[in-house]
Amino acid sequence: MGYRAKFEVWRGDSSGEGALQPFDVDVEEGEVVLDIVHRLQATQAGDLAVRWNCKAGKCGSCSAEVNGRPRLMCMTRMSTFEENETITITPLRTFPVIRDLVTDVDFNYVKAREVPSFAPPEGVAPGEYRMSQVDVDRPQEFRKCIECYLCQNTCHVVRDHEDNKPEFAGPRYLMRIAELDMHPLDVRNRKEDAQEEHGLGYCNITKCCTEVCPEHIKITDNALIPMKERVVDRKYDPLVWLGKKIFKR
Ligand code: SF4
Ligand code: F3S
Ligand code: FES
Repeated sequence: MGYRAKFEVWRGDSSGEGALQPFDVDVEEGEVVLDIVHRLQATQAGDLAVRWNCKAGKCGSCSAEVNGRPRLMCMTRMSTFEENETITITPLRTFPVIRDLVTDVDFNYVKAREVPSFAPPEGVAPGEYRMSQVDVDRPQEFRKCIECYLCQNTCHVVRDHEDNKPEFAGPRYLMRIAELDMHPLDVRNRKEDAQEEHGLGYCNITKCCTEVCPEHIKITDNALIPMKERVVDRKYDPLVWLGKKIFKR
């Protein structure tokens, strides 16, 4: 059964100026928040800017904040709200607004480029990589990432701290480093990278990133905490310590 819902949608531009605009919109059974945004575009706000692509939770484009919670709009069912509730839709808070619900997520591309790519052992060419499934079981989970940036948007280290952005790669890219560290053939020192170059130390394992991940990747438990443990092991491993002493002589 359809009903009419109350919405408040952020309208603004890159100047930083903007406001919530109220709308009354029809809702049909089985719809998701993105359907409502499309209905608004078709009926009351033809110039409302929104980014989306697959409408199937797989492209990671339609990220926004619904009632203040970072969500994929295409995977947020209207049936999860009360019919008399006013639903707010605002852009991701951690990234600058381009227009309305569209943010500039360039921060994430910059961070992606800062992670050195897969480093195979010398003399092993592409096509010659050999490893067993058991060797890749753990990092395989991280490959489910759809790059929606909900985790990057949610992490408190950068959410309200613009000044931390240069030093902190964010959960998505620390997870990428963990993935490479767990890769059986990668030879680069990812532990040092994570700690020295990508701000692993800023993460105080609040797990907010994990809570918002639409792919249910256990970012904190399976990537960040193991990475932190390895960094600590390395730092306090007596052999590593001894090795460092000898080489420094
Ligand atoms: Fe999105 Fe999850 Fe990937 Fe983060 S780890 S970008 S929340 S899919
Ligand atoms: Fe941020 Fe996730 Fe760590 S939310 S503080 S990266 S556990
Ligand atoms: Fe692709 Fe929502 S439109 S994830």
